[in-house]
Amino acid sequence: MANLEDVQRRALAELASAADSEQLEAWRQKYLGRRGELTLYMRSIGGLPAEERPAAGEAGNNLRRLLEQSFAERQESVRQMELARSLQAEAIDVTLPGRRPVVGSIHPITETLRRIRDVFAQLGFEVFRSREVETDLYNFELLNMPPHHPARDMWDTFYISENVVLRTHTSPGQIHAMRAYCPEPIRVILPGKCYRYEQVTARHESEFHQVEGLAVGHNITLADLKGTMTAFAKQMFGQERTMRFRGGYFPFTEPSVEVDMDCALCHGKGCRVCKNTGWVEIAGAGMVHPNVLRNGGYDPVAFSGFAFGMGVERVAMLLHGIEDIRSFFTNDLRFLRQFGQLL
Ligand code: PHE
Repeated sequence: MANLEDVQRRALAELASAADSEQLEAWRQKYLGRRGELTLYMRSIGGLPAEERPAAGEAGNNLRRLLEQSFAERQESVRQMELARSLQAEAIDVTLPGRRPVVGSIHPITETLRRIRDVFAQLGFEVFRSREVETDLYNFELLNMPPHHPARDMWDTFYISENVVLRTHTSPGQIHAMRAYCPEPIRVILPGKCYRYEQVTARHESEFHQVEGLAVGHNITLADLKGTMTAFAKQMFGQERTMRFRGGYFPFTEPSVEVDMDCALCHGKGCRVCKNTGWVEIAGAGMVHPNVLRNGGYDPVAFSGFAFGMGVERVAMLLHGIEDIRSFFTNDLRFLRQFGQLL
């Protein structure tokens, strides 16, 4: 009996200092487990004189009840403590602002291409897609430039092999389009990437985009070309734009023109972008040369057409006041994020 009192004292003291579920379990094994002190005590009762057994048994049972109840209480408060501790450790401040997912944006060149496409779509032009790797035949020869022709010097060329080149302009697509549409009339634009072996500067890149335009039909004249270019410039840069058409030279158009627009940034007063001339060139153009019509399968007596080629980077630079063409290709997100937001 004296032993039992000692068990009770130690058990309750140790239980009070059990601070987590592991210590609780160890305590339970020690006193109430199969080899626990109280269990061993109960087993030893059989060895006592018969008259002492009932009291010893009752005392043992009382202590078991006391320990079991104390254990349950301590277990509950340890559970509460552990919960409080983990809530604190894994605390989430629901009042913090959320993190915005990173969403990309449309590249300014893609955005500009889409705007150009939309303007020409309203004028009845559809998109014709053409290849970036071309043969010498399409890039030059069928555009009225035989191998010896000095006009080839106008295009600095990346050669893949002697007869295969990265296209230096979108004009070879004119031949593909004519051969695909012949003998029907044509009104298409051909957007895409072009390549030139260039010294890279603020105004020149070796990779850039053009949008070619081609209209072939009966009685198409230079007036149609001028009207189309003017409608485009006003739609894209504002109704107040005025145009200037200068005589030019391309082997695949005759006559050829350079298409200028009054500078939308300084309104013709003169600035860095227009090199103080008040005018900016937006396209090369002209009436499709009879030889080129013939190469596309059309009879130049029955058909005529106009074509133009505009630089997309140039249009984007004028739209947004961008000064360096290299900005489009250096992948600086501070630059790119200013355009084509999806949100
Ligand atoms: N292909 C010419 C260039 O890249 C532009 C052009 C296209 C001129 C169509 C006339 C007609 O410079």
